Amino acid sequence: MDPSDDVPWWHTAVIYQIYPRSFADGDGDGIGDLPGLLEHLPHLVDLGIDALWLSPVYPSPMADFGYDVADHCAIDPVFGTLADFDALVAAAHGAGLKVVLDYVPNHTSDRHPWFVEARRSVDSPRRDHYVWRDPAPGGGPPNNWRAAFGDEPAWTLDEASGQYYLHLFLPEQPDLNWDEPRVVEEMSDVLRFWMARGVDGFRADVVHCIGKGPELPDAPDELAGLPACIFDHGPGTHECLRHLRRVVDGDEPGAHLLLGETAVFDRDQQLSYLGLGDELHLAFNFLILHAQWDAAVWRHELELAYAGHDRVGAWPTWVLSNHDLPRHVTRYGSEARARAAAVTLLTLRGTPFLYQGEELGLADAVVPPERVLDPGGRDGCRAPIPWTATDDGGWGPRAWLPMPPDAAAHSVAAEAGVPTSMLEHYRRLLALRRATPALQRGAIELLDAPTGVLRWRRSLEHPATGPAVVEVAVNFTGDAVADAVSAGTVLGGTVPGGSATLDRAGRTLGPDEARVVALH
Ligand code: GLC
Repeated sequence: MDPSDDVPWWHTAVIYQIYPRSFADGDGDGIGDLPGLLEHLPHLVDLGIDALWLSPVYPSPMADFGYDVADHCAIDPVFGTLADFDALVAAAHGAGLKVVLDYVPNHTSDRHPWFVEARRSVDSPRRDHYVWRDPAPGGGPPNNWRAAFGDEPAWTLDEASGQYYLHLFLPEQPDLNWDEPRVVEEMSDVLRFWMARGVDGFRADVVHCIGKGPELPDAPDELAGLPACIFDHGPGTHECLRHLRRVVDGDEPGAHLLLGETAVFDRDQQLSYLGLGDELHLAFNFLILHAQWDAAVWRHELELAYAGHDRVGAWPTWVLSNHDLPRHVTRYGSEARARAAAVTLLTLRGTPFLYQGEELGLADAVVPPERVLDPGGRDGCRAPIPWTATDDGGWGPRAWLPMPPDAAAHSVAAEAGVPTSMLEHYRRLLALRRATPALQRGAIELLDAPTGVLRWRRSLEHPATGPAVVEVAVNFTGDAVADAVSAGTVLGGTVPGGSATLDRAGRTLGPDEARVVALH
């Protein structure tokens, strides 16, 4: 039996992250927006993705470019209007694409009406929406936690009341207090608001941080210098997640995705947020994002990740780039490796996440000091997407950040229809994945391989279409490797060439080559 009907949509989907400021500019102000995105939706349809995840588009002072939310149930004018949002959802659905929204539960903007009211006085009815503490006995911050950006304490003194408020990120991002039932209720209403507007799920920002509990103990010595957002904040998060999961499931479990950005480096802790199938549906695995491009390192990571997910009965996820880290072309140092990495990402068992522009092979922009905007130093990976084959990629002189290197050559216009381009490589891979249920849902087995090569098999009994057994072999090195891949019908890989590719049945992988082969 082909079990395609038994899995939720996010098991078989490829989810594409949109960073709206940098995707497409509809009104020429140099900042991407929803009308621009709507206009460029055909790019996503032609690419062959299944769902898009939008980084925040809510009203925001933009201290953290939208991750400082001032109103959870509206659209920032820089991005458009609620009507633009509705039009986008309708068009996406019309094109068969799901829409996932960023949801920022750990903190709000300091300009959010809740915080404005909370800081008014210690007796404010909303005081407990946030985390306030008296100074430590000798004065100074209440504990030793550090904020995420710029080695500062995670506490800011509110002069008026003499109390400190907690912010795991910028002082402009005060942490919400999820021990306060009204926070839980109001933040649940936010989910309901967007589900009623038709969205298909949420990516919950640093969601592991929400359940801090009342004690807020000092970080142990070995963690004391690190940002407090990367360590465990206690069991309260699990209860919050079970609650959010019930809200997201509603009376239609399987319709809406709850995906967590659980940016912790302890694997068991990360898996713990999947609960017993009653917390997050999916959690990002960032360990692979920080792994170097090395076959042995990846094999080790894959083994641990699959064993861990199997143990808790959860579905894995894979990601190579996002808006917080250098792009993988930049990290791995070559486009050839990035091509092989794309084959890997899109043929492993688990939901792949793409970040806008990786399908063009973009590297990080070089941002001169006078143009630096992000307090977290992440501008380079957030450069605008080049659409036209011009130096400005169609953005004009007002683009909010510099364009990526070689923007014209890496533009959609320059790459579309060119078989050797990264864009056509991604299109072929996505089409292959879609046509091959074994790649979407099949079991995975890691195989022995020569040094420098990673090799695995995907298998699915009686698939509705495509082969039942597919082998993938990836050469992580810059040298040819013999006896690296099984002979069979070549379905795809890093070497383009249409039907000629299909005849390549040798067992040697070229430098940086990845190959996908159907076995008979
Ligand atoms: C997440 C986001 C990042 C943001 C931070 C604070 O890590 O991905 O962009 O700065 O949370 O909201």
